[in-house]
Amino acid sequence: MAPSSSPAGAQRALEDARERAEALRAELRYHDHRYYVQQEPEIGDSQYDALMRELRDLEAEFPDLITPDSPTQRVAGEPVAGFGVVEHREPMLSLGNAFDDAELRAWHQRLVRLTERDDFAFVCEPKIDGLAISLVYRDGRLSLGATRGDGLRGEDVTANLRTIRSVPLRVEGDGLPAFEVRGEVYMSKGEFKRLNEERAERGEQLYMNPRNTAAGSVRQLDPRITAGRRLDIFVYQLGWVEGSPPSATHWGAMRWLQQSGFPTNPLAARFESLDEVAAFCAGWVERRDDLDYEIDGVVVKVDDFPAQRQLGVVGREPRWAIAYKFPAEQAVTRLRKIDVSVGRTGVLTPFAMLEPVVVGGVTVSVATLHNEAHIHELDVRAGDDVIVQRAGEVIPQVVGPVLSRRKGRRLAKFKMPAACPVCRTPVQRDPAQAATYCPNRACPAQLPRQVEHFTSRGAMDIEGFGEQRSHLFVSAGLIESLSDVYRLPERRAALLALEGIGEKTLEALFANIEASRQRPLHRLLIALGIRHVGTETARDVARHFGSMAALRVASRDELEAIDGIGPVVAESVFDYLHDEEYAALLDRLAEAGVRMDEDVSARGGPLEGVTIVVTGSLDRWSRNEVESLIKGLGGRVGASVTKTTDSVVAGAGGGSKRDRAASLGVEVIDEAEFVQRLRARGWNGT
Ligand code: IVH
Repeated sequence: MAPSSSPAGAQRALEDARERAEALRAELRYHDHRYYVQQEPEIGDSQYDALMRELRDLEAEFPDLITPDSPTQRVAGEPVAGFGVVEHREPMLSLGNAFDDAELRAWHQRLVRLTERDDFAFVCEPKIDGLAISLVYRDGRLSLGATRGDGLRGEDVTANLRTIRSVPLRVEGDGLPAFEVRGEVYMSKGEFKRLNEERAERGEQLYMNPRNTAAGSVRQLDPRITAGRRLDIFVYQLGWVEGSPPSATHWGAMRWLQQSGFPTNPLAARFESLDEVAAFCAGWVERRDDLDYEIDGVVVKVDDFPAQRQLGVVGREPRWAIAYKFPAEQAVTRLRKIDVSVGRTGVLTPFAMLEPVVVGGVTVSVATLHNEAHIHELDVRAGDDVIVQRAGEVIPQVVGPVLSRRKGRRLAKFKMPAACPVCRTPVQRDPAQAATYCPNRACPAQLPRQVEHFTSRGAMDIEGFGEQRSHLFVSAGLIESLSDVYRLPERRAALLALEGIGEKTLEALFANIEASRQRPLHRLLIALGIRHVGTETARDVARHFGSMAALRVASRDELEAIDGIGPVVAESVFDYLHDEEYAALLDRLAEAGVRMDEDVSARGGPLEGVTIVVTGSLDRWSRNEVESLIKGLGGRVGASVTKTTDSVVAGAGGGSKRDRAASLGVEVIDEAEFVQRLRARGWNGT
């Protein structure tokens, strides 16, 4: 919007901006709801980003237009010293438990006895294992978010809850002046896994389970930390209401909440007999692992509110609801021995070999032990009876020893082996990471796992590899380096000779390999498996430098200057890029046509606003590299010389573009001049 000189013009511009901002907000809110609540996005990320960018720009130009419920304001605020106390207008109750069918039926019998009725309808909902919270809306806007606390008083965590994308900041609410909604904040299993993988990469202590992590994230004094962890919410109750309640039943209230824009659990169901309720509960015992979030039971509620009121509350537990709890996913078994495996970066990881035991319906004989420090912290020793837990994640964990059963037996403490169990090379220790690793890059344990990682979903995402095929291709000698992934299409006959590989499989595999050449730089950085580089770091680095060429000439200090990157990570990245063998790998990947840049408009880079055309061949960089470098520094690369071209960088050859530049009066500079100008603009690459 062009600034206007006259006051009336300025007023009009402001009004136009206000209208546009409101329209953008409505549109963004709609798409947020499609994406985060209904999980059926209508537009792609880039279209969404464009809307958000327009709104941000508008709000930057007209700061008076910013409203607290604008989608731009989901960004996290400043840390606080402590949370305010919130007194709940109505106590947040807990639930009585039923551990089996008989207890569920006993609960029902009590309802029948107390009310002398036998015609209840029930609503059954998965019991989400997260953190209970209360949200207060006034005039359709989120005004307060609080934790459950002791049920009477909780903490004011509004700033943190605002960062959760599925928490609506504004709702229709049928014009009710104010109302409270209760629900459960949780972290999905997928997000938990992602977070822990990143922590493992950085050598940080792992989180135990999604529940505690979600709770810890909400109770963060720094909302930026909450915002960095993707949390979700399901609402499960309409609390107090000012104005007339929208429904006389829980089921009706939930439908109203859903229509108002709240995420309700689509798995909730209403039944008119206890047999159906019991079947629903039993069904989820079997299927709980299918969900991407953890549930520890089913909540059964009497549907109509008058009956709820009649039944009332005893102590802190309502008589009208009960939690049908699933059997524990823990068991005790003998730890036979502690073995050690070698991962893709050579890190030695101890794991538990167990006497097979059934945990939550699955036979478990192997469990993870993370690292040596973790084993000593738990004080588990080979020969102990240990508690094993399957907490939804695929790999079972050892929770700890049953010390009373160790009595009288002398069990040796665990010690990491001094040599790699696979190649026998003496191991080294990385005290910063509390890790032990095999320094032998040629260790046969590493390459198959590197290939598996390179091709995995968050990395180059080449479907058709996986653990088995990665091992198969390596052991068949078809892959000797990661760049050989791109040479597989040349090895068709050898591939067809492998077991389980047919023409069709190969065609699909080759197509996937081909498509992966276009992955952006951050995916490649993840795929390379550079120590300490997880998803976030890779994104930060890729966004900052824009290209591999720019990254490869960056100094340690430049790396460390990036927000969120410390000396250990900077050193690890620097060392990788300057390692002869890895540098050669990068060259081979570039030659294979793997993309080496990121889509970034590097705002504020030394070449911001400058359009450059490159022609002929340069000494210092390949064509791809110099183009990436220009983009990485904020410039634009023009395909042909036009009036808007600022400079043409000409190497050897490059005839026609030189001529065209001359005819348009566009300057032509050589490589040395280009480098000199970059330096003058603050670029300090080599
Ligand atoms: S209803 C009086 N519904 O379970 C009703 N609770 O032990 C109280 N929870 O503090 C809660 N999913 O944190 C209800 N669908 C659901 C739930 C649910 C999880 C949690 C909630 C509550 C605890 C009760």
